[in-house]
Amino acid sequence: MAEQLSNEQLIGAAKEFGTPLYVYHAEKIKEQYLKLVDGFSILDTKFFYASKALTNINILRYIKEIGCNVDCSSINEVKLALHAGFEPQNILYTSNGIAFSEIEEAVSAGVHINIDSLSNLEKFGKKYGHSYPVGIRMRPNIMAGGNIKISTGHEGSKFGIPVEQLDKIEEVVKTYNIFIRTLHIHTGSDIKDVDVFVKGIEVLFELIPHFPELEVIDLGGGFKVPYIPGEKETDINLLAQKIKESFDNHPTADNKKFQLWFEPGKFLVSECGYLLAEVTVLKETASTIFAAVDTGLNHLIRPMMYDAYHHINNISNPSGEMKAYTVTGNICETDTFAANRELHEIREGDYLAFLNAGAYGFEMASNYNSRFKPAEVLVRNNKSRLIRKRDDMKDLLKSQVELD
Ligand code: LLP
Repeated sequence: MAEQLSNEQLIGAAKEFGTPLYVYHAEKIKEQYLKLVDGFSILDTKFFYASKALTNINILRYIKEIGCNVDCSSINEVKLALHAGFEPQNILYTSNGIAFSEIEEAVSAGVHINIDSLSNLEKFGKKYGHSYPVGIRMRPNIMAGGNIKISTGHEGSKFGIPVEQLDKIEEVVKTYNIFIRTLHIHTGSDIKDVDVFVKGIEVLFELIPHFPELEVIDLGGGFKVPYIPGEKETDINLLAQKIKESFDNHPTADNKKFQLWFEPGKFLVSECGYLLAEVTVLKETASTIFAAVDTGLNHLIRPMMYDAYHHINNISNPSGEMKAYTVTGNICETDTFAANRELHEIREGDYLAFLNAGAYGFEMASNYNSRFKPAEVLVRNNKSRLIRKRDDMKDLLKSQVELD
């Protein structure tokens, strides 16, 4: 088991590299990956890390090193994955709403592709016919996931081709003799209930007989990780067991076995990450003690965007008396990380650690208010190494064209 990084290690990194700072713990990523591999050893399964969660090139290389594949959501992520050294056959591009030219680029790169619209499927058929096996992203019309903003499989969602359009899909596939190798669904993020995945498969069982060349069932990502103390992650062993039972209960006419694919993002990298910030100002008001930190919604937007809970540790005063604080950012917006949260007594200059910051933390960061994006550090074998420099003024100006 990978222990959590200690307060001393985190404080050491904050002092050495400054704050705000993202710190990632490599061994925790491996621990999570092995849980998946062990749990799914009862089925022929492959995992593709959803790199949109965190694309630092060193993280991608570590993911490759531990034997995991990679899933991309833009052609640039495909290029990053190639740059990180992944072989094209270990890269998946699950697209949505993209220009056909990106699909052409992905074909040239030789990566797996999941197409999510009839329009692109038709263009694909016209150009490639049967020559390039491809996947279809279906919308199963299932509601799943933590927050509505991260639910993607329900009626009304923009993602995938709705299952009720099967006739149209079949028409296009037949007209151009397209080689459909994969059926894909991704219903959302933060899904604890394993039955949601089972429901998704049940929907796919209806479709499988319509695609005789099918080899892969791709159930996307979305496994839950604990954010709030006491919360549990998706029970991977139970999930694997239930999926196996589902397959066993639905044998195909020719007893064909499918390979199962998953695209975990949060499960692999959420808990490995810490955002470290320094408390800049304490402000006592009649109702509230505000603790302002040197970061904000520009660096970790999940609490403001999804009302997400991120646990906060005062790593500088871990045995201080408990008191209620409202922890706020330094951005010129109401960027509240936590309202009236009981924390160990905070003093100006203390370091706070925001947990679960690995997935969709740095990756969703911006330069809003012309603040610098934080530096990133990877801790591996207890050694902390800088993997991204903090921005500086040059970065803020580098793409701007200064007219004379
Ligand atoms: N596969 C597909 C096609 C996806 O769209 C996603 C996430 C994943 C896999 C990975 O899902 P995960 O295992 O990480 O839940 N920014 C939001 C999450 C957005 C997820 C977008 N798609 C958040 O911070 O909660």
